[in-house]
Amino acid sequence: MSQLAIIGGTGLTKLSNFTVSRKEAIDTPYGAPSAELLWGKLGNTDCVFLPRHGEQHQFPPHKVNYRANIWALKSIGIQDVIGVAAVGGLTEKMGPKVICVADQLIDYTYGREHTFYQEPGEGVEHIDFTHPYDANLRQRLIDTANTIGLSVETTGCYGATQGPRLETAAEVQRLIRDGNDLVGMTGMPEAALAKEAGMRYANLSLVVNWGAGLTDEEITMDEIHANLEGGMQHVVNLLGNLQT
Ligand code: HPA
Repeated sequence: MSQLAIIGGTGLTKLSNFTVSRKEAIDTPYGAPSAELLWGKLGNTDCVFLPRHGEQHQFPPHKVNYRANIWALKSIGIQDVIGVAAVGGLTEKMGPKVICVADQLIDYTYGREHTFYQEPGEGVEHIDFTHPYDANLRQRLIDTANTIGLSVETTGCYGATQGPRLETAAEVQRLIRDGNDLVGMTGMPEAALAKEAGMRYANLSLVVNWGAGLTDEEITMDEIHANLEGGMQHVVNLLGNLQT
């Protein structure tokens, strides 16, 4: 049984170079996950793949069933989860096409089912979330990048916004003042739910545009798609060579 899961974000709904050996639709107390779970081999890496937004990219960030996704992965014995995300870049080193293994996050999302401790009387554990991303899993990603000669940023704070709209220029300035380097819409509650479920979780972000107002250009889907296409190949290559 594979212990590593990759949750693919925008631009990573299908994995190239992924040999599928099994697929299964898993039911959970929270409903159906975004898609069937796919077991297989990505390059040299045994893993389970789950496209966060669904096979047809039908779930926008605020409609992803994060609890079902994490529950399903936990129920099949997954211990390590890598959440791949396409993000906006906020600080100087985070320009388009940069890949970052984030080390911190700030949560700006709202109205999402964000915990497994939902019902009164069922008890609650207040997880320690000081370090939202697992140090060992992060290091595996960084070591692998070094080994294959891929340049990655090894620290960065991910600001999780509600979406689906992009930010205003003023919101981007606030995100920067708050200390964020990256902005995306799916990093939470995924990371916290994985921690509640007792799994190791790391974020692997690909920058696909500058944050709103940081350049004179309008942010277009064409720009985002162009950066996704090139950048995700590097992300997939990194994941396919992941060191154990
Ligand atoms: N903001 C929020 N989420 C994003 C962005 C952005 O600029 N780019 C890709 N996902």
